[in-house]
Amino acid sequence: MLRRRRRRKSLLLLLTVSGATGERNMKFAQFLLKNGSVAGIPKQVERFSKFSPSPLSMKQFLDFGSANACEKTSFVFLRQELPVRLANIMKEIDFLPDKLLGTPSLKLLTSWYSQSLLELIDFLERDPDDKEVLTSFTQTLVNVRNRHNNVVPTMAQGVVEYKDAFGVDPVTNQNVQYFLDRFYMSRISTRMLMNQHTLIFDGSVNPAHPKHIGSIDPTCDAVEVVKDAYETSKMLCEQYYLTSPDMEITEVNSKNPGQPLHIVYVPSHLYHMLFELFKNAMRATVETHETSPTLPSIKVRIALGTEDLTIKMSDRGGGVPLRKIDRLFSYMYSTAPSPVHVDNSRNAPLAGFGYGLPISRLYARYFQGDLQLYSMEGYGTSAVIYLKALSSESVERLPVFNKSALRHYQASTEADDWCVPSKEPKNLGENRSSLI
Ligand SMILES: Nc1ncnc2c1ncn2[C@@H]1O[C@H](COP(=O)(O)OP(=O)(O)O)[C@@H](O)[C@H]1O
Ligand SMILES: [Mg+2]
Repeated sequence: MLRRRRRRKSLLLLLTVSGATGERNMKFAQFLLKNGSVAGIPKQVERFSKFSPSPLSMKQFLDFGSANACEKTSFVFLRQELPVRLANIMKEIDFLPDKLLGTPSLKLLTSWYSQSLLELIDFLERDPDDKEVLTSFTQTLVNVRNRHNNVVPTMAQGVVEYKDAFGVDPVTNQNVQYFLDRFYMSRISTRMLMNQHTLIFDGSVNPAHPKHIGSIDPTCDAVEVVKDAYETSKMLCEQYYLTSPDMEITEVNSKNPGQPLHIVYVPSHLYHMLFELFKNAMRATVETHETSPTLPSIKVRIALGTEDLTIKMSDRGGGVPLRKIDRLFSYMYSTAPSPVHVDNSRNAPLAGFGYGLPISRLYARYFQGDLQLYSMEGYGTSAVIYLKALSSESVERLPVFNKSALRHYQASTEADDWCVPSKEPKNLGENRSSLI
C-alpha cells in the first residue's frame, strides 16, 4: 500500500516538475502515453474511480456563478471532480468487448481520455491562491474540451467498424447500449462543468444574454426555444424538400395562467432536443405526404405544472410500428455511417447517423427529465420531453462505476425468461394424433 502510494506520488511529482509550461506538460503527457508509462494511467484511473461523482443541482450551478462566485472554490472542486468523473467512465470503457476496444477509433478515443486525465490531475498539487495556476487551469479546460470535440462521431465510427466486422447480437447490443448511455451522459456532464467554469471566469458577460449564468438561463422561456428550433429546422427542410410543414403551438401555464413558461434550464440542451425532434417530424411529414398538395402541421403543446414542464410534439408523418420503437434509441441497431462519409443523399441534412433520439433522451435525463416516443403506425408520432419544473429537483443524473454497474457487463448468455414464439406454429392436430 505504502509502495503504491509512493509511486503514485512520484508520478505526480514528475508531472509537476516537468510541466513548467502547458506545452511542455502536454508533450510530457504524450511521452508518457507513447513510452509504456501508460502503466501510470490505470493506477490513476483506479485511484479516482474509487470516488463517486458528486451530482450538482441547478442551484449549486447558479451559486458557482453568482455575484460572489469564487474561481478558487470552483477550481478546487473541479480539479478533483473532473478526474473522478473521467476515471469512473474509463473503468467502464475497459469492459467493452475487446474487438470494439481494438478498433482504431476506440484506441484514439481512449488516448484522449488518458491524456486529459493526466493534464487535470497535474493541478492537484498546485496552489489555488496563485492567479497563474487558475489561468492555466482554465486554458487546460479549453484544451480538454477541444480534444474531446469529436468523441461522439469517433465512438460511432468505432461501433460501425465493429458492426461491419462482427455483426450485432442482442447481448452485445444491450451491453453497448448500457455503456454508451452512461458514456455520453458522463460526457454531457463533464462538458457542462468545463463550460460553466470557462464561461463564468473568463471575466466577461455574454452580451447577447447578460442574465445567463454560464450556459444556464435562470428564466428560460420554453416557447421561445421551441420557436428557434422550429425555424432552423424549417430552413433546412425547405432547402432540401422545397417545402415544410407549419407549426401550431398551444401553451398552458397552470401555475401562473397567461404568464410565459419559465424554467431554470440550459437553453442549448433544450434546443438540441427540440431541433432533433423537429428534423425527424419534418422529414417524416414531408416524405409521407410527398404527393399531397398540403402538409399536415406539426402540433406542439407545452404545459407547466407544479412538477413537470412537458413538451409534446405531434406529427402526422406515418408513424413507426411498436416493434421498432426501442431500436430508434439503440446506438448499435440504428448507427448509419457518419453523414460526413456518405455522399450527399437527399435526406442527409435532416437525418444524421441515428444518434439524434438517444442523445436527446440523455440531455432530457441529465437533469432528471425524460424523452419518450409514442407512435401510431399509419398515422403519426408524438415525442414528449419531460423536464423538472423546479430547479431544486433539477440535479445531475450521473453514472457511477460500482458493483451493480459491473454486473451489467458480465456477459449474460442465459436464456430469455419469456417464451420465444416459434416461427412455424406447431401442427397441434398432428401432435395429438401421435400421442394417441
Ligand atoms: N417523428 C418520426 N416519424 C417517423 N419516424 C421517425 C420519427 N422520428 C424518428 N423516426 C425514425 O427514427 C430514426 C432515428 O431517428 P434519429 O435518432 O433522429 O436518427 P436519424 O434522424 O439520424 O436517422 C429515423 O431515421 C426515423 O426512421
Ligand atoms: Mg434525426
